[in-house]
Amino acid sequence: MYSIAGYGNMIADTGRMNAYIQALQQAIKPNSVVLDIGTGTGIFALLACQFGARKVYAIEPSKVIHIAQEIAKNNGYASRIHFIQDLSTQVTLPETADVIISDLRDILPWFKQHIRAIADARQRHLSPGGVLIPQRDTLWAAVVSAQELYSRYSSPWDSNPYGFNMQVAKQQMTNTWGKGLVTPEQFLTEPQSWASLDYTTIENPNVKAELTWNVGQTGTAHGLSIWFDATTAPGIEFSNAPGKPLLIYGQAFFPWSDPVSLVPGDIVSVTIYANLVGDDYIWSWKTHVISQGEREQVKAKFQQSTFFRIENRLP
Ligand SMILES: C[S@@+](CC[C@H](N)C(=O)[O-])C[C@H]1O[C@@H](n2cnc3c(N)ncnc32)[C@H](O)[C@@H]1O
Repeated sequence: MYSIAGYGNMIADTGRMNAYIQALQQAIKPNSVVLDIGTGTGIFALLACQFGARKVYAIEPSKVIHIAQEIAKNNGYASRIHFIQDLSTQVTLPETADVIISDLRDILPWFKQHIRAIADARQRHLSPGGVLIPQRDTLWAAVVSAQELYSRYSSPWDSNPYGFNMQVAKQQMTNTWGKGLVTPEQFLTEPQSWASLDYTTIENPNVKAELTWNVGQTGTAHGLSIWFDATTAPGIEFSNAPGKPLLIYGQAFFPWSDPVSLVPGDIVSVTIYANLVGDDYIWSWKTHVISQGEREQVKAKFQQSTFFRIENRLP
């Protein structure tokens, strides 16, 4: 659940908003019916009215919908926006929509029931030939050197505080990923595109991908930086890449079990999976680092997963 301040931060993110606004403006024709999934404080529904939508269905399960309703009234759009407090997957609408707009992502697009909700909306709520905003997300990853970020995961556990072996706590941390901002100077490999979510066809809420990099830089690697680029409409995009102006999503940092010293020519292979279990994802990332010296040598082998966190191991 988001706070009002959280919804405010989304609206204040002009990089995100501009890409959505341009796509919405382009998609709305006179007489358009628009569906805003996860309306929050109602920003996309209000904009849809401003761009000439005949009718907007604004769906939101949380109580913030009451704020959105008052805002709509105060801006003269109460009669054109029909608010529904529910999940889009539970709602039957009296008509299909010409445009469906949503932003149900978190740091990454695999978040709760996002993909299922979009697939459901496309099948049940979209008119033939209708437009989905966004259209596509593209995922990227790079191996990074991020000592400061990594110390959040390894400190103080790595230094055996007060003489105690507290590695279990570090394992709990390193089987967790979260927001972690990096700069392009921290890349030890080229960024690689590893998945594409085409919302016009997507059905599978899960993902599995295999990535291999030839290391290009000497340095200590601490894990992976992962981010997405979005296409809201053909030619209208925003990017969360390190070095680009920071948007609300940022980048995800997937730590490794231990830092690894890399040199040019080393090969890093990673298999990454996200599997939706109930309302949340189990993320797993398997890493294999091989040095290509006179003879091939395994430098590191890690198998990490949010499934290994203690709460998932308790009966
Ligand atoms: C990231 S906020 C976006 C708010 C606003 N649309 C914006 O872009 O500024 C996502 C919102 O979607 C809502 N939500 C998530 N899944 C939903 C679903 N299936 N149907 C309706 N709302 C949903 C959440 O409660 C949350 O308020």
